[in-house]
Parts: sequence; C-alpha cells; structure tokens
Amino acid sequence: MRVLSFGSLNIDYVYDVPHFITRGETMAALALNTYSGGKGLNQSVALSKAGLEVFHAGAVGEEGLFLISELESAGVNTKYIARLKDIRTGHTIIQRNTDGDNCIILFGGANRQITKEQIDSTLADFSKGDALVIQNEINDIEYMASRAQELGMIVAFNPSPMEEKIIPVFKYADYILLNEVEAGQFLRQDITALSPEDIAKSLLNKLPDSKIVLTLGTNGSVYADKNIMFRQSAVKVNAVDTTAAGDTFTGFFLSGIFGGKTPEWSMKFASHASAIAVTRPGAAPSVPTREEVLAKM
Ligand code: RIB
Repeated sequence: MRVLSFGSLNIDYVYDVPHFITRGETMAALALNTYSGGKGLNQSVALSKAGLEVFHAGAVGEEGLFLISELESAGVNTKYIARLKDIRTGHTIIQRNTDGDNCIILFGGANRQITKEQIDSTLADFSKGDALVIQNEINDIEYMASRAQELGMIVAFNPSPMEEKIIPVFKYADYILLNEVEAGQFLRQDITALSPEDIAKSLLNKLPDSKIVLTLGTNGSVYADKNIMFRQSAVKVNAVDTTAAGDTFTGFFLSGIFGGKTPEWSMKFASHASAIAVTRPGAAPSVPTREEVLAKM
C-alpha cells in the first residue's frame, strides 16, 4: 500500500513564554526557535518513520524549500509538492509555555493555493487500496476526499483545525482521528458532561461505518468502531513540548492499521510514539523512529 499525505507544510516560529499572552499585554519571549511543521508535514514524517511508503502533496513558497528537504530526510517522496513563486509558505506563531503547552496562530499562505488540477493530477497516480491522509490546513479537502473515495482509496481524516465547513468531509472518511473539542464541534453539542466512551458512541451514531480514534491528551485515547470500543491509557512522561503529539499519534496509529496490525496494537504503538514526541522540542523534529517506539513498548 502507498500513502498519499495531502497536507500543509508550515514554518513554525516557536516563542518560549512565561505564560500565554493576554489582552493588551506586551511580553518578552524567553527564546525563539524555528522548526519544520504543519499537520500535513508532521503526519507524513510520522507515517514514514513508522515504516510506510509515503508521498506528500502540498505547496510551498520559495522560503519554504527546506521543508521539502526535511520530508526527504525522513524518507518521504516529495514529487507532488508544488513550489510556488510570489506566495508565502504557510507558517505559524506558536507560544510554548513552561508546561510545554502551546497556543498557535496559523497563516495558510501556499497551503491554501492547492488547485483542483493539482488534486486531480496527483490522485491520478493512486488507486484502490492506497490511502489518502488529510487534515484541515489546506483548501478543497472535500473535493479531495470524494475523489479518493471514488477511486477506492482508504481515507483517513484528522479534522484539525475544526470548523463548520469541513463537516461534509466526515462522510468520506474510513478513519477519523480527533480530540474531544473537535468531537463536540462535529456533534454540535456540549459534551463536557459526557464520558469519552459516550462521545465515541455519539460519533458512531452519526458515522456508523467509520473507525473513530478519540484522543484525550494525558487521559489517553479511545478507539471505537461498530464492533469494538476500548480505552488506551497515555504513557506517562515529562512533557517539554506537546506540538505535533497528535500528528505523531495519527501517523503511528495509521501505520499500524495499514500494516495489518490490530486496532489494539496500533493504539498502543501510537500512544508510545506520541509519548516520546512530547519529550522533545519542535514539531517534525520531535517525531521518533519506528525502532525507538518499539523499544519503548
Ligand atoms: O499539529 C502541530 C502543527 O500544527 C504545528 O506544526 C503547526 O504548524 C500547526 O499546523
């Protein structure tokens, strides 16, 4: 199986701060680091480091060419990435606090310049049994997912950042990986009083043929499909940076599933991978190798 990861490439500007900035405040940052990131890029790196054959499609401006090198050094094929002139590469401004938590401002740039022609010409090289992995940091994901489904591809969807207009994409997804906030937005209800298992059941009521992974941060994660539901606990570590923890989880979970492993094994694999990622700074650079994760398991 080949995996087409069609998603964002971002330059992450990470500012270490004593606390998240509040209205009207001016605050000196403690440090600034620049990393390769973007949910698409991070998940491509994770899928590839976890052992799959991965092709990344997306777009960058001229100052983002180093992001392509980062993907290539993780073993990802980059031939479907458009290099655009006179368009800024996608970037983020990330505040990272002393607990390793973050707040992110996202600028789409080249990530929002994906054309239907690029989508069609890329998908033309893929077929039944291949997989498409998408998030919500590029444009036209509904078109992409519907075309991939027509081709018989497996569609995995991480609806992040969540917004109303991507709700139609859910119906095309075989695998949906999301957190509780995103689940509440999809369900259009206040889920604060619901247990994670009840949230997963509500999702399955609306999406009975999907396989759902609900991530719960330090409370672990829940896997649910029409036959089984179980909780995977989080692996306890001292977090320094949670950026890309979810992307690492997604990449390693899907690599387990696409590699023929059970949901139980894949959830454990993913949870150990993201536990390693949070002990390292940055987004893509924090993603571990398959060997590191197996050793930790
Ligand atoms: O999921 C983490 C990613 O979200 C960061 O790398 C940043 O680019 C944002 O897109």
